[in-house]
Amino acid sequence: MRVLVVGSGGREHALVEALAASHLEPEVYAAPGNPGIARVAETVDIPADDLVALRDFAAERRMDLTVVGPEVPLIGGIRECFEEAGLRVFGPSRAAARIEGSKVFAKEVMRHAGVPTARFEVFDREYRALDYLRSREAEFPIVVKADGAAAGKGVTVARDRSEAESAVRAAFGGKFGKAGERIVIEEYLEGREASVFVITDGHEMLPFLPAQDYKRIYDGDEGPNTGGMGAYSPLMWMRPETYGEILEEIVRPTLHQLALIGTPYTGLLYAGVIVTSSGPKALEFNCRFGDPETQVILPRMRSDLLELLLAAVEGNISGREISWSSDKAVCVVLASEGYPESYSTGDEISGLSDLPSGVYVYHAGTEERDGRFYTAGGRVLNVVGTGSTIIEARARAYAGVEAIHFRGMQYRTDIALEAIELEDF
Ligand code: AMP
Ligand code: GLY
Repeated sequence: MRVLVVGSGGREHALVEALAASHLEPEVYAAPGNPGIARVAETVDIPADDLVALRDFAAERRMDLTVVGPEVPLIGGIRECFEEAGLRVFGPSRAAARIEGSKVFAKEVMRHAGVPTARFEVFDREYRALDYLRSREAEFPIVVKADGAAAGKGVTVARDRSEAESAVRAAFGGKFGKAGERIVIEEYLEGREASVFVITDGHEMLPFLPAQDYKRIYDGDEGPNTGGMGAYSPLMWMRPETYGEILEEIVRPTLHQLALIGTPYTGLLYAGVIVTSSGPKALEFNCRFGDPETQVILPRMRSDLLELLLAAVEGNISGREISWSSDKAVCVVLASEGYPESYSTGDEISGLSDLPSGVYVYHAGTEERDGRFYTAGGRVLNVVGTGSTIIEARARAYAGVEAIHFRGMQYRTDIALEAIELEDF
């Protein structure tokens, strides 16, 4: 069995580790991978968005399955590209990946499926959006979203009209390229956020346990949005009934609606939800595993990930369940100086060979030269601690953080802090 993982971040490192641990004993490859991944898999220097080169490699090495980490290749049609060559991909078709690729498409699907979500309006002209912001319908805070994929940076939560106007002007002024030619302006929702993943074969769905992600750069949810600065799982604050509601009232109707309009979804569907005082509402959907949520979910999974992904690709997940360890997991992201704006690279990383027990480090933006590691991206490392309580998992993760150093290293000190107060131990 040969498996190819596409991507190069901490999420892909976690996927590679979980796939390599399968009892099917696969040979695991990663393109392009990273130095952490290279210890467990054979890395191939092909960028994640070079679909034709990826397909040629997968065909030549006769991959049995390709698992796609990032959204860009999926939105770009990697599934169709591989299928033309008779190769199997775990991930949705280009048409179904629009659930992440277009916020307008996602909102329309939700509207037709009756999924609870923020009230919204769509604009393709700047002056109309500005008129709307001046109208009585617009209430602040308000959320302005570029329609297309903008690497998590296309969303502005505007506290007042002038912030909202700046976001509108930035989008129509080309800040996000084509992704900002249309925008969604939507109601601001208040509550706790959760990331919910299901594996689906287009008919049935197999839910993972939920995780929480920290999107803002600074403690206390201050500063700009990032790709994710930390995560923990499970969520003690989420009641099982609420989780059931998310699955039955948000995820299932969305899958049903996608099938109904001729774009059945297979792969992993990620629902970003917010649990408000009037119940859970959908914020967004992603067409792939979340990063860094995957890094706190997969280490807790007892089931064989490769078997589950193969079953999904074969349309055969009915009756299966995922089994979980009772352990808790906390992930702290170590980022480069300057991230999420332009950041420095090339700084030497120390401490990786001497980590405390119960700590696992996934590589994200690193580079290895002559046996030494250097920073090579905005998010550099993901330090994960596990333990029988959140307190223990969190203490381990931060002990790992203390052991690691590079110039300008930034991280949040409040990951999973609220979970401790809520933990029932
Ligand atoms: P999205 O990419 O749509 O998930 O948005 C990124 C982040 O912006 C989310 O994780 C939320 O923290 C925030 N956000 C997005 N939409 C809303 C909303 N309607 N109300 C409040 N916060 C939101
Ligand atoms: N953690 C957010 C994302 O993967 O989109």
